Parts: sequence; C-alpha cells; structure tokens
Amino acid sequence: MLGAMSSIKVQCVIKEKNEIGESPVWEEKDSSLVYVDITGQKVSRWSSLTGQLDSIATENLVGSVVPRKGGGYVIAEGTRFSFVDWVKRSFSTVAHLDKEKPNTRFNDGKVDPAGRFFAGTMGLELRPAVVERKQGSLYSLHPDHSVVHHFDQVDISNGLDWSLDHRVFYYIDSLAYKVEAFDYNIQTGGLSNRRVVYKVEEDDGIPDGMCIDAEGKLWVACYNGGRVLRIDPQTGTQLQKVKLPVQKTTSCCFGGKDYSDLYVTSAYKGMDENALPKEPEAGCIFKVTGLGVKGIPPYSYTG
Ligand code: BGC
Ligand code: CA
Repeated sequence: MLGAMSSIKVQCVIKEKNEIGESPVWEEKDSSLVYVDITGQKVSRWSSLTGQLDSIATENLVGSVVPRKGGGYVIAEGTRFSFVDWVKRSFSTVAHLDKEKPNTRFNDGKVDPAGRFFAGTMGLELRPAVVERKQGSLYSLHPDHSVVHHFDQVDISNGLDWSLDHRVFYYIDSLAYKVEAFDYNIQTGGLSNRRVVYKVEEDDGIPDGMCIDAEGKLWVACYNGGRVLRIDPQTGTQLQKVKLPVQKTTSCCFGGKDYSDLYVTSAYKGMDENALPKEPEAGCIFKVTGLGVKGIPPYSYTG
C-alpha cells in the first residue's frame, strides 16, 4: 500500500485560473479535457497533446458541460439546458426550467449510461457555499428533449455518478455532508429508495464533485478541504485521501491514457486577499498520476 501510494504525483497542468472550475470531462477522441468556469461564465477545452486552450463565453452562470453524441456539447446554464455548437461557437436553448424560481441556477451534471443528462440546481450564492436553503432540484434531460424533475429541497446540488452495473445512482447535496444512493432504473431513468452511503467528516471539507472508478469506488472532491477522497459506497468507509496544493478543490474525473489519471478542478473565488498569495495555483487544474486505479469513459448525451 505504502509503496503504491508513494508514486502518486500531483501536477498543475492547466495554469489558466478559473473563478470556479468545475464539471471536468475527458474527450478521448482528441485527448482533451472539457470543463466550465461557473461564475467566469465560460466553457473550455484543453488539449493534453498540445496544451492549447480554447474557451467560449456563456450568457449565464454555467454549472456543467457534457459531450453530445452527434458532436458539440450540452450545458446546464442559468436555469436552461442548451446545446453548444463548438465550430459555430453558438448556443441554442433546449429547455428552460425553474421559471418560477429566478434565484436558482444549474450546478453539476453528468450523463447516465443510457445517454440522459442529469443536472441539479441550487439557490444563487451570497458568498461561496452560502445559499438560501432548499431552493434546488435534480432534473434530467432525456434524448427526446423532455425534462424530468426528480426531487426538490436541495441546498447545493453537486457530484453525481452511476454504479458500474447501472443499478445505483450516487448523489451529493453538498451542505448535507453526505453521499447518498438511489436504486436506478436504467430503462426509465427513475430514482427510488434514497439512502445515505457515506458521511463526510467536516474536517475533510464540503463534498462537491465526484466520479466513480473502474473498481466501483467513488472519488469525492472536497471544497475548502484541498483534497479528494476515495470512498467505498458499499462499506461507508474512506479508503484514501489525496491532498492538493489548493483548498478549493471542486470536482474530478478520470482521463488520459486508459483513464488512469485523475483530473481535479479548483476555484479561487471567495478567497480573501491574504489567502490568495499563499495559493498561487488556486483556480488551476491538476493531474494526479500514479493512483494505480483507472476510471471509466464518460457517456455522451444521445439527443
Ligand atoms: C458550487 C459553488 C459552491 C461550491 C461549494 C460548487 O459546486 O458551484 O458555487 O460554492 O460547490 O459547495
Ligand atoms: Ca460542483
């Protein structure tokens, strides 16, 4: 164990800072990482081969981005789902939700193994992680462009992923400090039997984005914790902790060759003037190598 852990390396690979970097997703076809800067209002694509970074500004706060099967992306921005044509650099709205709740916005999202885009909302923040409580919901955008509302009463809708057998949906409402699970119906996209699978210690920070690895364990980025935890949702235990050189670690995904690197996003928004010089890499994106475990390829929205 110690031998394996000693080869872990954390490298800052994308030095362009994000106010709140989030929603990283690997694109195998051109070895790129796609992600958003939520309050910086942009979607970015970084080539791991050339180091080139290309960004498109969004009209609204943008919580998440996912690849679309026919090309381009889908984003959850403001309270809309929109398609992005990267070549034309244009957006088109697919669905507009929460019209009766102007003080909410989309946050994290991910595509399920059947091609549906799940994303949750939250109240607008007064300061980072300070929101009017219980304003958020979880939604999914289906391939026929219809939208399902799964539940409400969410504080900060965040990390999500599915078990390797597609029978469980894992979910984080950040301010609840836990990882929850639902039985997942892959045929319908329906959720049932909500339960807690892991309680996050406050010392570890606020649970934020997460992803599953090829062994069915979850990697949870902890905001204000400067770390990513590997947890076992079967036993409710923490298996590993990887520290990063910045406190506001926001999300993570596997990428690189055979999905053996873990990419971790971070934020600098909300740091005070004294903290900023101590963390010159706050807002950058990191690559963790040598973990000895792989991820799985992301799914694309099929509509
Ligand atoms: C949200 C941030 C929030 C953070 C901490 C992120 O997913 O987008 O705005 O401050 O979680 O909970
Ligand atoms: Ca997040």
